[in-house]
Amino acid sequence: MNAIATIEPLVRARNVHKSFDQLEVLRGIDLDVAPGEVVVILGPSGSGKSTFLRCINRLETINQGSIEVDGEQIGYSFRKGKLVQLSNHAVALQRRKIGMVFQQFNLYPHMTSLQNIIEAPVGIHGESRKDATENARRLLERVGLSAKADNYPRQLSGGQQQRVAIARALAIKPKLMLFDEPTSALDPELVGEVLATMRDLANQGLTMIVVTHEIGFAREAADRVVFMDGGKVVEQGKPEDVLVNPQHLRTRSFLSRFI
Ligand SMILES: Nc1ncnc2c1ncn2[C@@H]1O[C@H](COP(=O)(O)OP(=O)(O)O)[C@@H](O)[C@H]1O
Ligand SMILES: [Mg+2]
Repeated sequence: MNAIATIEPLVRARNVHKSFDQLEVLRGIDLDVAPGEVVVILGPSGSGKSTFLRCINRLETINQGSIEVDGEQIGYSFRKGKLVQLSNHAVALQRRKIGMVFQQFNLYPHMTSLQNIIEAPVGIHGESRKDATENARRLLERVGLSAKADNYPRQLSGGQQQRVAIARALAIKPKLMLFDEPTSALDPELVGEVLATMRDLANQGLTMIVVTHEIGFAREAADRVVFMDGGKVVEQGKPEDVLVNPQHLRTRSFLSRFI
């Protein structure tokens, strides 16, 4: 039985093209992500993985195709049969559905963990400080950092900073979380704690798109693995198929580096 196929996808990307000047980085990406699904994107450096994530939450505009999240075209609305660009305010509201975690944690250095987490809910989305603070404390507990609420980023390890960054992204209560190589900047001994936090989120039913080179995470936590190369999806499927028995030479040669 395939329950996923009957549910409206949370993310629906169709024929997405993106160029930077003459450089065509995304060359027709199609991808659906179902609610609650965990999709891991693998692929060599320069294949367009970060660009694709940035297009999903419209940190980049696309040149062709469409990306819908939760039934809405990010950045546009249909009016009288025409696509109209939304105001910055409207895009900000749409983006609230999407949390993003980057390789560099990008925490505000002059703010404590708690202040970092409540900044967007209070500053951008008008939540009361009291509600945002209560939620932030719950989130810190969820990422195992209750004791670090009042610490500044410089007082935290890289792994702890990244877990605060995850809590911060969750603070806007997103329907979708995007992770762009969240463990690539970490010392090897700190990778595990961040992956464990992400695995918890996956088990709790959060919809996630994760770009990572952590094949072990893909094997254990992904519902689907997508292999990108040259701005295209080369192959996708269940981790046990794509990782164990890849159909394409490019996937095989990419994966052989990790064995
Ligand atoms: N803002 C930008 N301006 C120009 N070129 C860019 C920009 N962002 C990414 N690129 C180029 O797009 C290609 C894909 O980059 P990226 O999406 O970061 O790949 P990946 O995340 O798979 O390593 C690379 O050649 C990169 O240099
Ligand atoms: Mg990248």
